[in-house]
Amino acid sequence: MGITGRRDQEILDVVGIGFGPSNMSLAIALKEHGASAPLHPVRSHFFERQPTFGWHRNMLLPSATMQISFLKDLATFRNPVSRFSFVSFLHASNRLVQFVNNQSFIPTRQEFHQYLEWAAAGLSDQVTYGSEVTAIRPVTGPGARTPDLLEIEVRSGDGSARVVTARNVVVSTGLVPRLPEGVTAGERVWHSSEFLTRFNAQDPASLKSVAVVGAGQSAAEVTRFFHDSLPHAQVTAVIPSYGYSVADDTPFANQVFDPDTVDEYYFGTEGARDAFWRYHRNTNYSVVDADVIRALYQRQYDEQVSGVQRLHFRNLTRVDSVEGSDSGARVVLRSLLDDRREELAFDALVFASGYDGLDPARLLGEEFDRHFQRDAAGRHRVERDYRLVATSGLSCGVYLQGGTEHSHGLTSALLSNIAIRSGEIADSIVLRRTERELGRQAEETPSAA
Ligand code: FDA
Ligand code: NAP
Repeated sequence: MGITGRRDQEILDVVGIGFGPSNMSLAIALKEHGASAPLHPVRSHFFERQPTFGWHRNMLLPSATMQISFLKDLATFRNPVSRFSFVSFLHASNRLVQFVNNQSFIPTRQEFHQYLEWAAAGLSDQVTYGSEVTAIRPVTGPGARTPDLLEIEVRSGDGSARVVTARNVVVSTGLVPRLPEGVTAGERVWHSSEFLTRFNAQDPASLKSVAVVGAGQSAAEVTRFFHDSLPHAQVTAVIPSYGYSVADDTPFANQVFDPDTVDEYYFGTEGARDAFWRYHRNTNYSVVDADVIRALYQRQYDEQVSGVQRLHFRNLTRVDSVEGSDSGARVVLRSLLDDRREELAFDALVFASGYDGLDPARLLGEEFDRHFQRDAAGRHRVERDYRLVATSGLSCGVYLQGGTEHSHGLTSALLSNIAIRSGEIADSIVLRRTERELGRQAEETPSAA
């Protein structure tokens, strides 16, 4: 079926799909490129399905902190004098001095969200909110022999559609919430990605017994939040490990997130890539920041001292099945110690069971996705400049910000490297445009006899 809707006439150099931190960082890189090449700026626009800017709003829990330094912001690693840096934000907010007095490298997620909102306001001419990209299709423009353009269908909240045309898209649609097989979210069964919206819709008095599944950062933060916000409630943490494990953010391990490490990962052997994951998965997955672990242990200990226990840890335990209702959930837990199953009832059950990475095939659709190469393991092949490797005969570009853990390493779904990565993508788009224009000029210039 073809793409339908109002058609914009202009051909853009690039359309960004999603306006989270990754594509915001790209918008900044392109804006700064435009400032240095005002006669030939990159024509770009971004579409974001949320009605206004928001970054994991449902996990903006009061005491949650960032997991990176404030210097790993949208621009600093690429351009330390960018007007979009976190330092620039602090200055504009009259808080730079106080931030320094506070002596912390790690802002709260609330403050980083303020920073992102401030940056988004400075990019408002670049983005249309309430606009979901629903389809992408390659087309062959006038004079071209192979598809060199992309038609992108964008649906607004009111149901209307428009079609924009671009030479490239940058897909940056983010992580996808994952529930264990057989579990469906419902009135009282939530994934952590929807947590605050769901929680705020409840009468707290109706939540007398709640449970959180998982042993990652989301699970530990939600457990702490429940314990603080529901002083009358029993709070159960269902954790698959023996206890929460710490996220390794020590300096040597942290080098896995360095910009140069991307080259070592990308050009390394299969064995090297495997070693990165074996040794350093614990920098990010199924791990928890040390301060949150200590805060939870302190609460457990305080309850032992007082003799009133309402925080419960079910360790070495996984969820087997769940049955949700309007007022709660019945869950079958399986102990890994002796394989015993036990059925329990909770007023609310939160799955902090993680996320799947970005999969571009969802957006490209089966037919268009066939234009791109996959490796022996069935994963998309991606160039070093984050462009999907096309089968022959496609000169328009699909770039990824996310979904490249297999090719570019652990920074794929994180903020650590976004300033450099989006700079590399911007450079690639500009370079390929220059090559195309030079090629066209050469074709049009009659060769000397
Ligand atoms: P992100 O998910 O932020 O943005 C994608 C955007 O695309 C969304 O706004 C979405 O609405 C939009 N979108 C999706 N489909 C669309 C479509 N079809 N059309 C239009 N728009 C569409 N990492 C880190 O390094 N440090 C940290 O402190 C944290 N903290 C953190 C907290 C929590 C609660 C989570 C779940 C994750 C983190 N992360 C993190 C990891 C996280 O992936 C990272 O912070 C960024 O969100 C990555 O930015 P992106 O822009 O790539 O995705
Ligand atoms: P995660 O790290 O992938 O953890 C998911 C957890 O759920 C794992 O412990 C997993 O166990 C467990 N799990 C899955 N299925 C289960 C089942 N059936 N029964 C019991 N346990 C089950 O996910 P996350 O905690 O959401 O973190 C995702 C990303 O967001 C990370 O990058 C993290 O750093 C980030 N984050 C950041 C902040 C912050 O900045 N403050 C806050 C939250 C999240 P297994 O390991 O056994 O599969």
